[in-house]
Amino acid sequence: MNPVINQMMNHRSIRSYKADEPIPEDKLDQIIRAAQSAPSWINGQHYSIIGVKDKARKQKLAEYTKNPYVADCSVFLVFVGDFYRVELASEKHQKHFTTKSEEDLLLIASVDIGLACQNALTAAESLGYGTVCIGGIRRHISEVAEFLGLPEMTIPIVGLCIGVPNQDPPVKPRLPKEAVYFEEVYQPDTLPLLEAYDETIIPYSRREGGISYTERMANFYDKPYYHGITDFLKKQGFLKGSK
Ligand SMILES: Cc1cc2nc3c(=O)[nH]c(=O)nc-3n(C[C@H](O)[C@H](O)[C@H](O)COP(=O)(O)O)c2cc1C
Repeated sequence: MNPVINQMMNHRSIRSYKADEPIPEDKLDQIIRAAQSAPSWINGQHYSIIGVKDKARKQKLAEYTKNPYVADCSVFLVFVGDFYRVELASEKHQKHFTTKSEEDLLLIASVDIGLACQNALTAAESLGYGTVCIGGIRRHISEVAEFLGLPEMTIPIVGLCIGVPNQDPPVKPRLPKEAVYFEEVYQPDTLPLLEAYDETIIPYSRREGGISYTERMANFYDKPYYHGITDFLKKQGFLKGSK
């Protein structure tokens, strides 16, 4: 198989790292440049990446995110949706940033970040590092924003642990391709495929309580997971009702 595709298909998240292993600057530089090479909406590159290496600061972020392995990874990258740059550009060219309350900005930043983060992840894995994405960065979003010194029109969206693996977990099977890939039009009749996956995933879902895919999705989306996101977005200048 093509080595890039082979590496992608062998991805698994790493949640235990050899502590205090610094990442060489040239490796981090390659990872960040790979992230920056991702495509982005209008080449706007609507993200910033904050690398946290300091032990005490990683420990604090491990607490905020409730993901203890953040403390032990070599570098924790925080991907921040960034429209502060649009503020700077608008001011320079005497324009009003009139679309700042549009929800579409969140889709734009999320897609740009998803692509950049995945590029960083693939680059890091190709260098022999383990990785795990950390959505827990949004658990205490206001505190994290203050901790990182984020200005208005920015939002922390996801983190990425990069470090030397201290575990060798199996690759988690995915949904059947037929449940995810449709030709020409959407196929809604996928419940039997989801039920087949329910059986497949249970042995791999000990961390998530050993329950099936459908049960986990139903439970998870029954109530909000992170609180205060809308208020935070308004405080930062996003959404209607912003300052
Ligand atoms: C946006 C995003 C946020 C995630 N947040 C967390 C997290 O906060 N903590 C964690 O342990 N894993 C997190 N993960 C990792 C997923 O749980 C993991 O990718 C998924 O279970 C599939 O497993 P695999 O990566 O080993 O294939 C996140 C993944 C993504 C894409």
